Amino acid sequence: MKTITVTVNGTSYEESVPERMLLVDFLRDRLALTGTHVGCTYEGVCGACTVHLDGEAVKSCMMLAVQADGHAVTTVEGLAGADGPGPLQRAFSNSHGLQCGFCTPGILMNMSDFLARHPDPSDEEIRSGLVGNLCRCTGYVHIVRAVREAAREMREGASGVQA
Ligand code: FES
Ligand code: FES
Repeated sequence: MKTITVTVNGTSYEESVPERMLLVDFLRDRLALTGTHVGCTYEGVCGACTVHLDGEAVKSCMMLAVQADGHAVTTVEGLAGADGPGPLQRAFSNSHGLQCGFCTPGILMNMSDFLARHPDPSDEEIRSGLVGNLCRCTGYVHIVRAVREAAREMREGASGVQA
């Protein structure tokens, strides 16, 4: 066992964890943050477990909880701002970017990091950014549309133009 201190969604936790415990299991089983999903039995291919580590998207089934010691983690539960869902979350709702919703938390976490680095992405860039996220329902057309719409709203918000 090892004691770790990790900040999750703005709250600091000090927990004793098995050294081989995965970060996704720590989030789901220890902190009950079940918005982070497991879709590929910990093989790193589906992206449903994506969270932010110090602001960067990572697959939490590919990390040990002890590797998050001293770092800040954001899960989908921490994505909304004080005013409620942000532009990316609203765009997924408005543009029908989800059906069953299983993949959605991971896609939101990956795309929020992606949009911070690509404020005006082409559809090709969005599709390339989504390569690590599997969705079995949507065919991706509405997901790409939602990301494009969120990018537009975020740019207009940054420039003071009314969305
Ligand atoms: S559960 Fe982590 S990538 Fe699938
Ligand atoms: S919306 Fe069902 S897996 Fe993506």
